[in-house]
Amino acid sequence: MEQLMRDFFLFLSKNKTLTRLAKRYGLRFGASRFVAGETIEEAVHVIRRLNEKGLAVTVDYLGEFVDNEQEANEMANHCLEAIDAISREKLNSQLSLKMTSMGLDISDDLVMRNMRRILDAAKERGVFVTIDMEDYSRCQKTLDIFKTLKKEYDNVGTVLQAYLYRTEQDIEDLKPYRPNLRLVKGAYKEPPEVAFPDKKDVDENFKKIIKQHMLNGNYTAVATHDDAIIEYTKQLVKEYNIPNSQFEFQMLYGIRPERQVELAREGYTMRVYVPYGTDWYGYFMRRLAERPANVAFVVKGMFRK
Ligand code: FDA
Repeated sequence: MEQLMRDFFLFLSKNKTLTRLAKRYGLRFGASRFVAGETIEEAVHVIRRLNEKGLAVTVDYLGEFVDNEQEANEMANHCLEAIDAISREKLNSQLSLKMTSMGLDISDDLVMRNMRRILDAAKERGVFVTIDMEDYSRCQKTLDIFKTLKKEYDNVGTVLQAYLYRTEQDIEDLKPYRPNLRLVKGAYKEPPEVAFPDKKDVDENFKKIIKQHMLNGNYTAVATHDDAIIEYTKQLVKEYNIPNSQFEFQMLYGIRPERQVELAREGYTMRVYVPYGTDWYGYFMRRLAERPANVAFVVKGMFRK
């Protein structure tokens, strides 16, 4: 049943008509629990509140699978606006983005132009940028672009997904770049040819790659709401004397907020991923796919609106 629901929401997440309707009618159905607002002003307000609680942030202007140049350039402009706001308002925040929103599916020239625009502005203002990892079909291209950019910028990182068989090898291939990586379980629907179908194997591989990347001496963001993985990380850093300055925990806005504050109080860097913008629909559907309890929350929200 859970798998059926997961597949259903992942299917809905890609529906273009629903995405357009969602944009037109604004944040609905409890999406505001997971999305900080539709404008940068609303996002700034949320980031400030999180910072006041001792939480660091990475902010994301929502948007993905953009298929025309004008829209890709507009998306990049929103990222520039977010970088400006972080610097102007002196927020403790990084930036996250998806390369399909910068023109990855349109042309190499366009995506590189937009990425360099963003990374130049971010570097000037001391803002770190993480390139989210999308579905498997974009993984190789994302890593190729990341490698090119990492040679030019020190303020860029990316994400690797524990559910992919290839990830262990990717960590080794990236090692010479000394990358700052966010490690996650993986949020897209992938076939068994490329990804572990069994959750237990994903969890085991997650632990394996956390250890591998940390012991390579590279900065590691462990992005999860899973206490078993968090505990594993705590034990690992204790065993190998890895300082708190070499890793952090990350969670999504609206998910386990009390746990986020608890980890910050324990002295760990805890970074919250804060999405905002009008293109909230695909992101929201993936959160519903992850956890049936989130669906119950949404159903309640629908009756309240
Ligand atoms: P999982 O969903 O397996 O949950 C494990 C356990 O966590 C649950 O059994 C429960 O105990 C606890 N839990 C989860 N939600 C809870 C809740 N609401 N309340 C209480 N307990 C809860 N993916 C991707 O493909 N590309 C990317 O770039 C990113 N980026 C990213 C950034 C950040 C900061 C995060 C946190 C996540 C991502 N992801 C991602 C998403 C990631 O791949 C994954 O889909 C989700 O984090 C869900 O997986 P978990 O590791 O949280 O465990």
